[in-house]
Amino acid sequence: MEKVLIITGGSKGIGHGIISAYLANHYHIISISRTINKELANKGVTQIQLDLTHTEQIGIELSRIFSLLDPTKVERITLINNAGTLGQVNTIDNIEGETIEKAVRLNTIAPLVSSSMFIKLSKNWPSQKSIINISSGAAQKPYFGWAVYCSTKAALDMMTQAIAIEQNDVENGVKIIAVAPGVVDTDMQSEIRQSNKSSFKDIDRFLALKADGALNDTETVGKEIYEIDHNPDIQNGAVLRVKNKT
Ligand SMILES: NC(=O)c1ccc[n+]([C@@H]2O[C@H](COP(=O)([O-])OP(=O)(O)OC[C@H]3O[C@@H](n4cnc5c(N)ncnc54)[C@H](OP(=O)(O)O)[C@@H]3O)[C@@H](O)[C@H]2O)c1
Repeated sequence: MEKVLIITGGSKGIGHGIISAYLANHYHIISISRTINKELANKGVTQIQLDLTHTEQIGIELSRIFSLLDPTKVERITLINNAGTLGQVNTIDNIEGETIEKAVRLNTIAPLVSSSMFIKLSKNWPSQKSIINISSGAAQKPYFGWAVYCSTKAALDMMTQAIAIEQNDVENGVKIIAVAPGVVDTDMQSEIRQSNKSSFKDIDRFLALKADGALNDTETVGKEIYEIDHNPDIQNGAVLRVKNKT
């Protein structure tokens, strides 16, 4: 029997930390992102190159992945919707429509479409099935200059809760949860620290967290997410936050 993880955005950052944790627990891993990570290729991770803003391609890729798996041999299968973007940091009147749309496609439409396909394709599978949406504290707290990011992450939390009540009605349905990873030391955080104070008023807090060494590291966050995925006490539809370093 095998255990399978399908993850978006595994090439670096939090996704890479999640992959390390699942690899250590002998998962067969399929990662979807725009670039290939050679180190992960050497470790046997299957990588599919796809720009997830092309949401019409997601169904095709997931169907291909499922066609290569044998449901009678898969004891657990997890989808982690991790790929995301901060998008352009500015007040909403200063961001072009096309730029807004691209961020919404990656942060909200891609997870909706991949969750829909995952549930459909695994419907008659006897395996244990789960979806984890990587959310953010910004789903609950508004930040000046982050209207697009905050709203796309809030949508992720609500989609998690709405899909969970649908799946509660299904025999051997999919367990779906959302997890905010805290403030993690990745390229996204360096991008945040490069914002202008006029377009992102909270920048000092993020500069101070880095200077104080208070950021979570990707490997620790990956392990916590693995443990959350395997914790039977966590309810379907839960919206959680990993423990902060500070
Ligand atoms: N870092 C934090 O403090 C923090 C806090 C709260 C929530 N989060 C959330 O955690 C998740 C991961 O963030 P991170 O900090 O690890 O960011 P990151 O270091 O920038 O990594 C983002 C990942 O997403 C992939 N990705 C980006 N755009 C893509 C696209 N168009 N198509 C396919 N893949 C794409 C990237 O791969 P390629 O470049 O190879 O495509 C990369 O693997 C995001 O959803 C983010 O919102 C992060």
